[in-house]
Amino acid sequence: MHLIHSVAELRTALNGQRETAFVPTMGNLHSGHISLIELARGKGRPVVASIFVNPLQFGAGEDFSRYPRTLDADCARLRAAGCDIVFAPDAREMYPEPQTYSMQPPLADQLCGAYRPGHFQGVATVVLKLFNLVQPRYAAFGKKDYQQLFILKGLVRQFNLPIEMLEGETGRAEDGLALSSRNGYLSPEERAEAPRLYRVLRAAAQRIESGETDFTTIEQAAAEELTRNGWRVDYVSARGQATLLPPQANETDLVVLAAAHLGRTRLIDNIECRLG
Ligand code: PAJ
Repeated sequence: MHLIHSVAELRTALNGQRETAFVPTMGNLHSGHISLIELARGKGRPVVASIFVNPLQFGAGEDFSRYPRTLDADCARLRAAGCDIVFAPDAREMYPEPQTYSMQPPLADQLCGAYRPGHFQGVATVVLKLFNLVQPRYAAFGKKDYQQLFILKGLVRQFNLPIEMLEGETGRAEDGLALSSRNGYLSPEERAEAPRLYRVLRAAAQRIESGETDFTTIEQAAAEELTRNGWRVDYVSARGQATLLPPQANETDLVVLAAAHLGRTRLIDNIECRLG
């Protein structure tokens, strides 16, 4: 496995290779990330992973400076998973100019974007740059970050990028908590409480699957249960899978998404469901 830090070395190592499958990450890898490496590899595609904690997608007062950076452990996991190239640039390599372009994706101000202004602009910008550097044929992203995946599929479609998007299911701990690099911030008490997020989402999804359509009531019940148990809720929201907007009257393929804070840690999760 090659560990590469510069754009020039990356270009040389790729040498015009166009069948690559690409997995962008911010590092501190867990088995959810590794499942994306496996999805990317498929039946033997060359795999490039990137590790870059992208300053552009963090707001003032967010966790950019304390985000866990564990390059050696990450490389060991990637090597074991059969990754071919790891691209780990620093911020100057990615953003050499003081003024940078920024993408303005549709839906960037909805859901998480309403609470993290500029976040999806930063995500779309760095992913477009990474796509241009790696020029992959495939790229793998997790459904754990459902809105991110939705926005990046739009980026690929609207800019006609010749990239096939591979979608990975959410890897979870045994108690249901979605794996996340941010879970490491949780105290033991918070870690014990954290799986409630998935439980309330499952309960909301079950109500929808059994035919309830008063989404506001369902969202409120979920948010109240979290609040009662010490969470600070950003949102719980049922949306259409096709648009990520509030469900239309005849829409059946839905997703319930939530973001909430436990102490200093912001957790997100979602669950797809079909209106019964
Ligand atoms: P990061 O949070 O490191 O996630 C990298 C990839 O792993 C994303 O596609 C994310 O959806 C996926 N992922 C995270 N947790 C997962 C889980 N429990 N199961 C399956 N997949 C999971 O998302 C980012 O980095 C950044 O925004 C990035 C796209 C790299 C741009 O900076």
